[in-house]
Amino acid sequence: MIKKGIILAGGHGTRMSPLTKAVNKQLLPIYDKPLIYYPLSILMLSKIRDILIIVNKGQLNQYKKLLQNGKNLGLKINFIEQNYPKGLPDAFILGEKFIGKDNVALILGDNFFYGQNLSEKLLESKKLKNGAKVFLHKVSKPELYGVARINNKNKIIGIKEKPKKYYSDYAITGLYYFDNKVIKYAKSLKPSRRNEIEITDLLKKYLSNKKLSAEIIGRGGAWLDTGSIEDFYKTSNFVSSIENRQGFKIACLEEISFNNNWIKKNDILNSIKFYGNCDYSKYLKNLLSR
Ligand code: G1P
Repeated sequence: MIKKGIILAGGHGTRMSPLTKAVNKQLLPIYDKPLIYYPLSILMLSKIRDILIIVNKGQLNQYKKLLQNGKNLGLKINFIEQNYPKGLPDAFILGEKFIGKDNVALILGDNFFYGQNLSEKLLESKKLKNGAKVFLHKVSKPELYGVARINNKNKIIGIKEKPKKYYSDYAITGLYYFDNKVIKYAKSLKPSRRNEIEITDLLKKYLSNKKLSAEIIGRGGAWLDTGSIEDFYKTSNFVSSIENRQGFKIACLEEISFNNNWIKKNDILNSIKFYGNCDYSKYLKNLLSR
């Protein structure tokens, strides 16, 4: 059972400059919340409460201002600053002490997931004892991602990072589950041509040991990109459409925590005070009358 999760929220967000010159990309809004709320909600829906957030050097105070130590969300949040982005597997090297002897989930700070049955898939996946597990999603531009080729039993038979020539249209999304060997494997990786250690190289180690499994997010689920400014607005519009139609918020952290029985009504009142008079607080007030 995986009890620890890492959110990798480092990186300079260069593609979104000047928006990201002074503020980390994961603190920018996706509709009505900072982007970081969405991946954090995914860990919380997986019932993972012990969380490490890896942030850019110089941004620690901003994150702490927003999330504090997580107590009011029923979480234990630790932070580590990353001096410069060395590649996704660096999360396991920086997080070695946090991970200890446990297994761990990793979610990229800019990944957005939504869909029916997602929570069930998350809860199932966190049962991982040995090996690694990835979430795959069919995309129309696979050349932008790490991709996995699968056989007719949905078993992964090959992996490539951003293939120029068609290889598969199943993108490997930014949500991964690993056993404790991940630390050792991460340390053994050599930088790629873009001078970073690659998550796909790490996954290949599990694949060659026949220890890599896949969960597929079908067409009823959404995995959206927040890589460029255009994608940011598209994802914001998606959240706005769903929230305004249904009246439910996506990634309301207090709501998830309350539903998990991690916090009480009094904690929600504290959050309302913390956020002040805003729509998000109004939504929280409605939770109190449930
Ligand atoms: C990274 C990974 C890639 C994965 C993607 C998911 O890409 O290298 O394998 O599919 O995240 O968001 P990057 O964001 O570094 O281009």
